[in-house]
Amino acid sequence: MLNISKIREDFPILQVKINGKPLVYFDNASTGQKPEVVIDCLNDYYQNSNANVHRGVHSLSQEATNLFEEARVKLQEHFNAKQAHEIIFTRGTTESINLVANGFSQLLKKGDEIIISQLEHHSNIVPWQIACEKSGALLKIIPINERGELILDDYKKLLSKKTKIVAINHVSNTLGTINPIKKIIDLAHELGAAVLIDGAQATSHFKVDIQDLDCDFYCTSAHKMYGPTGVGMLYGKEKWLEKLPVYQSGGEMIKEVTFEKTTYAGLPFKFEAGTPNIAGVIAFGKSIDYLNNIGLENIHSYENSLLDYATQELLKISDVRIIGTANHKAAVISFIVNGMHPLDIGSIVDKLGIALRTGNHCTQPIMKHYNISGTVRASFAFYNTKKEIDLFIKALQKAISMLS
Ligand code: ALA
Repeated sequence: MLNISKIREDFPILQVKINGKPLVYFDNASTGQKPEVVIDCLNDYYQNSNANVHRGVHSLSQEATNLFEEARVKLQEHFNAKQAHEIIFTRGTTESINLVANGFSQLLKKGDEIIISQLEHHSNIVPWQIACEKSGALLKIIPINERGELILDDYKKLLSKKTKIVAINHVSNTLGTINPIKKIIDLAHELGAAVLIDGAQATSHFKVDIQDLDCDFYCTSAHKMYGPTGVGMLYGKEKWLEKLPVYQSGGEMIKEVTFEKTTYAGLPFKFEAGTPNIAGVIAFGKSIDYLNNIGLENIHSYENSLLDYATQELLKISDVRIIGTANHKAAVISFIVNGMHPLDIGSIVDKLGIALRTGNHCTQPIMKHYNISGTVRASFAFYNTKKEIDLFIKALQKAISMLS
């Protein structure tokens, strides 16, 4: 059993008032709040250890480098990657996907195929469209059913020897659907295709074991895991990272530079040009420690109880329609209210202290599938409570009566 009141004390922002009301923060799929240990870690780094990494012989630089590289090992262990140099630090999931898509745009040729799905965030659509434009490859889309689940029979039909990479999210940011990625990865591998998993919405909810999944790339962002913004992870199998061409270029990613020819550094530095977000990386490691202290299994089962309760309470309101009713869902609920604009609902409940996200959630193809322009989305974290869900339902009822 989690001690939620005690956990809430770890998050200073949960004490703030919004429009004079206690904050009910249900926008965790956008970004998670930060525990004091993460905030302190950022301050501590700048106060006591700030120096550039991998560059200096002086003690402070070595200390910063050690902290930075310890964070890499922490991520390797947490995600069970085989080797630390398979963990690349990026600005976030979006940059991780762009790095791989850009590399593939140089490896692919006309007639090759890339498979994504209708469930993807724009950040796992647009980079592949650009890769197709550059290479002449074709983009194929796995459709979804009415519950918002991938139709695996259609996926099997799309797969062929022409498929070079499959890029799929682990969890849909809009619908909460948890995709059967192990199966998706195995099927792709049977035909020799690589698989990239966009894990931005998964890693805060449950434990991910990269070697067990056997994916070729796995991407996530620190800020979704209660760490800082502007830092993320790209895991890549060594053989793929070796094969991919460099992404950004500059200092740190080189071995030798002459005007005639430049040679590149080995992994992971080949993909880490420029001074990285050092404090962010170290605090990313701290957020992972924090999550592991609570236990991701405990988090997963508690969040499921919040999801069940919120679903049950929302369904009691006759005009509410939940969008995304997959059998396996993370703690995310999208809904619409008949005849009412999501933005109006979001604005009214905000006056009552409830933070929800409204709109298309960077997933316009999902909106097209359901023939709607947007949804209201409530996404939960382990520091949320059933009492907060009651406040949210009350606020929603008030909004509905005002807009009727
Ligand atoms: N992708 C984030 C969300 O779903 C920003 O809100």
